[in-house]
Amino acid sequence: MSEKATLTIDGKSYELEVSTGSENEKCFDIQKLRTESGFITMDPGFGNTGSCYSDITYVDGANGILRYRGYPIEEIAEKASFVEICSLLIYGELPNAEILDKFRKALAEHASLHTNLEQHFKGFPPSSPPMAILSAMLNLVSCFHPDVLEVYSEGHGFDRTAALLLSKVRTIAAYSYRMSVGKPFNRPNPHLDYCANFLHMMFSEPYREYERNEVIEKALSLFLILHADHEQNCSTSTVRAVASSRANLFSSISSGVCALWGPLHGGANIGVINMLEDIKTSGRPIDYYLDKAKDKNNDYRLMGFGHRVYKNFDPRSRILKNRLDEVLKELNKKDPLLDIALELEEKTLKDDYFVSRNLYPNVDFYSGILLRAIGIPLDMYTVMFAIGRMPGWIANWRELHDQRLRISRPRQIYTGPQERSFTPVEER
Ligand code: CMC
Repeated sequence: MSEKATLTIDGKSYELEVSTGSENEKCFDIQKLRTESGFITMDPGFGNTGSCYSDITYVDGANGILRYRGYPIEEIAEKASFVEICSLLIYGELPNAEILDKFRKALAEHASLHTNLEQHFKGFPPSSPPMAILSAMLNLVSCFHPDVLEVYSEGHGFDRTAALLLSKVRTIAAYSYRMSVGKPFNRPNPHLDYCANFLHMMFSEPYREYERNEVIEKALSLFLILHADHEQNCSTSTVRAVASSRANLFSSISSGVCALWGPLHGGANIGVINMLEDIKTSGRPIDYYLDKAKDKNNDYRLMGFGHRVYKNFDPRSRILKNRLDEVLKELNKKDPLLDIALELEEKTLKDDYFVSRNLYPNVDFYSGILLRAIGIPLDMYTVMFAIGRMPGWIANWRELHDQRLRISRPRQIYTGPQERSFTPVEER
């Protein structure tokens, strides 16, 4: 017999189907509640509302667990490459050597941009925010590949579109950086793998090719893996909401980039470095910043702290923290911001305000220090997050289509004026 929950409103009972996930998470289904009772449920910010059943990523916020398709993030971070994880997230299983090779070749094949598409970079002022460029250019790619717009209604072409997006996002990101510093584009090199090719496009100069560096490439791959998916976060929910109107993959993902841009989401990785720099240069004690973050009359927040789901620790932050020392040592670098970050974390762990609200460092807290170590410019940090999140967005877009989900359309409770008559302006 299936489990049911009973809801009683004004003495009348409603039976609600209960579903259980593979990790024993439970929900009750309220889809028929409004038609049967006239009531809707209210949950601004959707903190307690499920929008889908998903096979992609599992997060257990109470215990700091994150798994992609069942594989713990700690194991993946240690052993996998980003390209393998893209394949895992999008297709559901780890690729064998043959599939991986084919996937790598597809990524290499789609790396370059149509010359007319390249021309569009000239239309952006050099100071343009890279996330605005990324979102606009990803949408524009569709104009050069009209055949892939109908991917799902045609039922084919998905593999090509996914590879195209995963590959081109990196070229667009690197070109937007080159444009912002007034340097010529470096065309992709099909002989380099995913991370090395990106670093080449970012940093090769006419007089000096990018020099391969295994430590940097592995650190970049780690960064991308840790950002690859995180179930129904703000940008992924945006991708799904847009995709639910049966919008194409390009426009759905370009909307996801816009959602990610905000400082409470992906934009926090830039906010963290600005905050740490400010602590360093202002000479003010860390307590000053803690007090400001705790002040209810001030909107200031400690960037890189807190999470909607993690209420104990964010495993991605732990992995980054543990790897940072090693990466800095291997690169023979020191970063004073790391010492400040460690001190800040230590203080918050002893501070009742942060402890009582379960505010711990999230993925953005240490990721910026890793990106600094490997030479990525600050204004590109959120773009790096977007490159990492691409497989998760694509996997969610695909799953929504496969499940043929209904269009996203939440309800509201109207609190405006009741019906009133219109008075022409001259009589008002
Ligand atoms: N600094 C100070 N106070 C905070 C912070 C913070 N970083 N985060 C939450 N709070 C307080 C908040 O004021 C509230 O206090 P009270 O209960 O007294 O009103 C309480 O903690 C709960 O906060 P909330 O805003 O209801 O929590 P949320 O789940 O809606 O928001 C969050 C989650 C990540 C947006 C938020 O913690 C935040 O703004 N953090 C800083 C920005 C950040 O680091 N974002 C990256 C998130 S992780 C990567 C990603 O997904 O992008």
